[in-house]
Amino acid sequence: MLNFDFYNPTQILFGQGQIAAIAKHIPASARVLLVYGGGSIKQNGVYDEVVAALAGFTVTEFAGIEPNPSYETLMRAIAQVKAEKIDFLLAVGGGSVIDGTKFIAAGALLDTDPWTILEKRGSNISAALPFGAVLTLPATGSEMNSGGVVTRKSTQEKYSFMSRKCFPKFAVLDPSKTYSLPTRQVGNGVVDAFAHVMEQYMTYPVGAKVQDRFAEGLLLTLIEEGPQALANPDDYDVRANIMWTATLALNGLIGAGVPQDWATHMIGHELTALHNLDHAQTLAIVLPSMLRVRKDAKRAKLLQFAERVWNLSGGDEDTRIEAAITRTEEFFEQMGVKTRLGDYGLGARDVDGVLAALEAHRMVKLGEQRDVTLEVSRKVLEMSL
Ligand code: NZQ
Ligand code: ZN
Repeated sequence: MLNFDFYNPTQILFGQGQIAAIAKHIPASARVLLVYGGGSIKQNGVYDEVVAALAGFTVTEFAGIEPNPSYETLMRAIAQVKAEKIDFLLAVGGGSVIDGTKFIAAGALLDTDPWTILEKRGSNISAALPFGAVLTLPATGSEMNSGGVVTRKSTQEKYSFMSRKCFPKFAVLDPSKTYSLPTRQVGNGVVDAFAHVMEQYMTYPVGAKVQDRFAEGLLLTLIEEGPQALANPDDYDVRANIMWTATLALNGLIGAGVPQDWATHMIGHELTALHNLDHAQTLAIVLPSMLRVRKDAKRAKLLQFAERVWNLSGGDEDTRIEAAITRTEEFFEQMGVKTRLGDYGLGARDVDGVLAALEAHRMVKLGEQRDVTLEVSRKVLEMSL
């Protein structure tokens, strides 16, 4: 097992009715900014519950954080935070709203252009306003991690950042608030969480037995419960299992002490920045080909994945590996997330543009062995046509 330094201070308030508990976790004198997205929270009752829970606080709002939150929108929120002397943020929504709130929290306290947070991947964050989160879409893990992803629309750049100052103080996970999700977002969430586990598990063995078993447990739960969420959308236990799984998939626990990949995510971010695909759609396209192209470097873990997750133990190694990748692909399709570039209207003509973006953003040595060069990325994209 590799050395590690695991830190996670986020308090989790899990279960139905927990929105009412947020008042206890916000300083009584706080000037709160309620941050949300395009308005789904006004249709499903979450907004009303949050407003009721904040009775007695000084509250203003910033609405309109878009999926794949933009620097341009978030800069308007930072201006509002400064003008209104806000000292606590409450993110209510999915990963985009929570990521956006992290950027606002850190950007508001920075004396240079907050875009530098993305350029420096968060290393220049020395302080951030405190914030909480009410999660409405299980997917990213942002509710219990310190990372965020922000897009600069004008230049089509999508970068991530990370800082220990950017953990939510608390996160409410009420599974009943996910009943209103469109099926596309249910599928996206399950695929994103699956990919997060794979980025941390599907590398090479380092004898990290408990991380491996946790990771396999999360994958098995997604495989079992994901289709159930599509078939029985109002099943509380199904929603609860998916919600907690997505959080655990990227809260640092399974990634501690193991090598990590993230090449699929980096290529995926370019596809979203250039072609506006949903985050999970990009992962469903890239991940299966990434595994096929890098089969030799990942052989031991692919065989373990085949046996423990997909129950494949017959046939020679290559047959088992290919069967496990095919099953993964079929699972993404079963969740309603298509796995080919062509399914989204993209083709061979678009590959060069993605590679140029990877090069411009210095994404030329990706993966756990830093061996995912532009040539490897080209192979992956061409295999995903
Ligand atoms: O904007 P609203 O009206 O809230 O609608 C949203 C949005 O249209 C809707 N939605 C959310 N909860 C709902 C709901 N609709 C009905 N009922 C509900 N309960 O869903 C749509 C998508 O929301 P979004 O927040 O964009 O989705 P997601 O949670 O998948 O977040 C994606 C973003 O997170 C980043 C991605 O790159 C992308 O920008 N990621 C963040 C990570 C992190 N912080 O650790 C890691 C991930 O790998 C990922 O990169
Ligand atoms: Zn992701």
